[in-house]
Parts: sequence; C-alpha cells; structure tokens
Amino acid sequence: MAKHIVTFTGYRTLHVPTGTLLSEAAQMADIEIQQPCGGQGRCGRCVVQVTNGTVRRRSTLRLTPEDVGAGYALACQTIVEHDVTIAIPPQEKIERRLATDRIASDVTAPLGYTPLGQPLHRLPLDLPPPSMSDQTDDWSRLQTALRQQTGVDSFRIDLPLLRRAGRIMREGEWQVTALVETDTWDRLDGPARVVALWPGHVPDDEPLWTVAIDIGTTTVTLWLVDLLTGRVRAQAAEYNAQIARGEDVISRIIYATKNSGSTELRNLVLETINTLLERACKIVQIAPEEVFKATVSGNSTMMHLLLDIPAESIRLSPFITAVNHVPTLLAEDVGVAIYPHATVDCLPGVASYVGADITAGVLSSGLDDAEPVTLFLDVGTNGEIVLGNREWLATVACSAGPAFEGAGVLHGMRATQGAIEETWINGESFDTSFRVIGGTKPRGICGSGLISLVAEMFLTGVIDKSGNIDLDLPTARVRYGTHGPEYVVAWGDETHDGRDIVISRTDIDNLLRAKAAIYAGFTVLADSVGVPLETVEQVYIGGSFGKYINVEKAVQIGLLPDMPWDRFHFLGNTSVRGAYLALLSREDRARIADIASRMTYIELSADNTFFDAFTSALFLPHTDLARFPTVQAAIQR
Ligand code: FES
Repeated sequence: MAKHIVTFTGYRTLHVPTGTLLSEAAQMADIEIQQPCGGQGRCGRCVVQVTNGTVRRRSTLRLTPEDVGAGYALACQTIVEHDVTIAIPPQEKIERRLATDRIASDVTAPLGYTPLGQPLHRLPLDLPPPSMSDQTDDWSRLQTALRQQTGVDSFRIDLPLLRRAGRIMREGEWQVTALVETDTWDRLDGPARVVALWPGHVPDDEPLWTVAIDIGTTTVTLWLVDLLTGRVRAQAAEYNAQIARGEDVISRIIYATKNSGSTELRNLVLETINTLLERACKIVQIAPEEVFKATVSGNSTMMHLLLDIPAESIRLSPFITAVNHVPTLLAEDVGVAIYPHATVDCLPGVASYVGADITAGVLSSGLDDAEPVTLFLDVGTNGEIVLGNREWLATVACSAGPAFEGAGVLHGMRATQGAIEETWINGESFDTSFRVIGGTKPRGICGSGLISLVAEMFLTGVIDKSGNIDLDLPTARVRYGTHGPEYVVAWGDETHDGRDIVISRTDIDNLLRAKAAIYAGFTVLADSVGVPLETVEQVYIGGSFGKYINVEKAVQIGLLPDMPWDRFHFLGNTSVRGAYLALLSREDRARIADIASRMTYIELSADNTFFDAFTSALFLPHTDLARFPTVQAAIQR
C-alpha cells in the first residue's frame, strides 16, 4: 500500500499508509487530540488545520464552509491520501476542580465498626519448628497453625506464594505473620486464602491497607483505607483518561470497537487508577504493593472497559451486558498495581445502564433499608433513578446525553476553571451577571450554569415554554447568529478569548431533551410502581454533578420534580462510598449483592408510556403546569 508523509508542525513527521485517519496518524506520532464523541464526527472538537497538501474529508459536520476553506478538518473524519502538513490547535486543557488529593480526616468508619466484619485478617503465628521426629511439610504446618488460631477448616494458597512460603518461615525462624482473606464475592463461605506471608510478627497497630475505587465516566476517585480502623486515610481523584476518547459511555463503546480501541481504553483507565494509587500511597508514605485488596464501583460500561470485556452489546438492542456480577479477580490480572495477588471485587450491577455505581449508591444512601418511599438519583450523561424502600426497589436509566456535562452545546464545557456555573438575568434590562469557577474570565458554561441560565431565561421571558427565544425583546443580547436565534450570556470584552459566549436555540433544544428524558424517567418509574411522585418523602442525589445542582433552578426547568426543598439531600460520591462500605464489612457485601438481585429494572425503550412522558416534559417546565406549583407561582409573580 502506498505510504504518505504526514508532518505535524511542531511535533514530528511520519509515514502512514493511504486511508489512515488523521486522528490515527496523530496517535502514532504520540500527539494527544481530544475526541469527546469517540471519533464519530459529531462533536467537532478534534479539529485540525491542513496547512499544506490535500485530504479527503468524510464528514465536515460542525465545520462551516469558511472553516473548510481555511483548511480545517475533523481529525477523526479525515483520510490521508497524499503528503500533508497538519497544524494542531492547542487542546482543551482538563483542569481539576475539587479533585485535589488529600489526607482524609473526615471519613471515619461507620459507628460500631469492627475489623472482624471485614475480609482480611493479619494473624501472627508461632510455628513449631520441624525436626527429625516432626516431618510435617511447610504448608501443612502453616495450615495447622492457621486452623488452631481461626477455627476455619480449610485454607488455600496461590503458587507464587507457596514457592516463597518455606523460605519466609525459615527467615522468621518459624515466627510468621499470615494475611488471610476469609471471603470474597464468589466464595462467601469457601476456604480462606493465604494472601501474604511475612517473616516475624508484624506489629498489631501497623495499618492494613486497602482501596475503594469508583470509575466514573468523567472522574475516577480512589480512597485508601486502613482496614484495622476502618478510616479513609487518603483520597485522590482525577479525570478518567478515557475522556479524550469519548465523553459519554456510548462514544467510548464505539471507540472500543475500533482497532485496538478496547485495549487502549483499558490502558487509559488503568493509567488513571494506578496514578491515583501512587498519589494516595505517597500521602501515607507506603508503596502501592502494600495495598492488599480493592473494591471497584462504576457503571456497567466502565466495568467492561476496565476488564477489556466487549461492551458492544450494551449499546445494541436488547442492551445486554456480558456480566453484571464479576467474580473475584486478582489484581495482577486486572492490572491494578497493588499487591499482585490481592483480590479485586467489582461491585455488582443490575443492567446495561444501571451499574454498580447505582447499587453502591443505594447501599450508601441506605435506601434499601428506608421506611418511607425514597428516590435516589444520579445525573451525569445518563440519569439513573431508583425508587423504593426496604420492601421493594425499582429502577430506570434515561439517556440524557452529554448536555449536562457541557457537551453538544456550542459554548458548553466541563465544570472546570473558567466555566460559568450560575447566572442571573435582570428581568427589565435582560442583562446577565454570572459566577465563574475559579473567578477568572469565562470560557464557557458548564452543566449547572446551563440549568441556571435556562431557568432564568424562562422566568424573565427571554424564552417561552417551548424554548423559543423572543427576538423582539429590547436588548442587543437577543439576536440571530450563525446557528439561528441566540442570547448573549457574556460579551467578548468580558470573556477569556474575546468572543461572545452565547446560548443558541439549538443548545436550548438539546437541554430540553436532556431534562425531558430524566423527568420522563421519574414519571414512568413512579407510574409503573403506582406511587405518585408527590408522595415521595425523600430524594437522595448522588454523583458529583448532583453536588452543584441548584434545586430551585432544576425544578424551574422541570428537571427535578416539584417538591419541598427539604426533601432533597445531596450525598456526593455515593459510588465510592458504596465501594468503601463493601470493603469494610461482609454484611455490606452481602447487602449490595442483595440490592442488585432484588432491584426491578424497567427498560424505558420497551415502555410504551415513555415517549408520551418525554414529549410532555419537553416544555418548560412541563405541559402539565399543575405538576409544578412553585414554578407556576413564580411565573405569575
Ligand atoms: S468530531 Fe472528531 S472526535 Fe468528535
């Protein structure tokens, strides 16, 4: 096959075969190009400029004819057929917000915590030395001592440790410390396993290190836990490195189906996890190999991608996962850089779009043990909703799309430095004021900013209940732009790059669809179990996005049901907390398995009332205003 020279200005030059995508060529050259839609040609964020030579563009969606004329091309949609020179614009820098590593002094073990309820036990043993009259083999000798100390009948040991066991016993002069795991997911009552062995007696107060990990589509969070005290001793969080290959789960699955895409995604998330591990371990001054167990939570797609299990069937009807409850695995097989023979328990999920992050959320919110009917909600690119109490649990997942993560919106961005996170509109002048993350000049608007903006536009009459912008208002902020009617949120002289930040009619439509999908999820779930939404006594909101939602604004746009604000409780990252609880106690591990098995999953695409509920929710706040009495009152005011 013919080869062509591709020169990436400022980087390097390489030879690629005809038909190579520019995104692939960039990867070969180790150049990072963000691909938020997973290379589907939908987001327009992988744009590069062809400064010399010609290319074949498969799609130019998101580019104007002027852009194409100036040589711009979507790297994921552009094929190399001749020698070319490419300029790479500066890539969006992902800056962390609140994702700071820290010594965790505020997460302590649940009341009444006892290390006896957790799976790992460190046992000091005094073994009788062998002699001419005691010819017992080393492993039997160790088992006898373990049996005497624990009362457990049978033990097993992996070959690599068995190879070293005799030497360790002799090194400690028949005084050793054994680390024993008494149960794991797939062996709640099975034989105990000798995980590690040290010569001599390890001091009783030496911490016993383990980790709880939450793999979010956007952020990975890791808690380093001392099992002896049950305390979280260090926390670290970072953007999931897969984000550059797709912002939502669907984009990632599509990316994974490409050549070696799944291996790449697995490596990227492992890179994030292992970096966090190193950072957290550094805080308490230990090596990652001194960590002896991990529990992992995350949505079903993240779990599949971590384990490099094909995730394609999650996206295609009838939307079936390869596995909901992963058996216990070894760290070295998963690729998590803790003690290689430590076990990794992946928490159980329910269905393709209701994963372990939600069962972990239910566990940590206590919904499964609540008397009153309670709603649990986790909003991200998907909205997962659980309704129930100690008697029953039902769940739906609605595809909100990435609008609340700032994607698919012209000036949308993640909740990082420079994002407008809250806006206020003056009802007479229609001028805006806003609050920006980091207090800098604004670069764009994040999800919570968009919710707040749409609510303000609606209540001040800038848009009507269908989202139409009133172009007759006496303000220059409403105008007809390149993408149709738009409202100027920030003028160029106020912004980071000197360009106006606007919200267009199309952006508003995307947001309305996202919020309608979630509200329709509430409606269908409540109807199918026969519980009117207004009788729900408490609403728990998990997930990092939930933390920043302004309830009043979210109700005003019809994203959340209209109920007294004191019923809403924000719980933060319930997924990592669930992984933490499962680490601490066998009871909670059994409980989360029980939650997963008794949760009734309602597949919205198979529910014939969903479409009607969705259509009714496409308005602000809803076609049936009686469902939103406080918004009705605000409109009248
Ligand atoms: S358009 Fe290329 S990655 Fe989205």
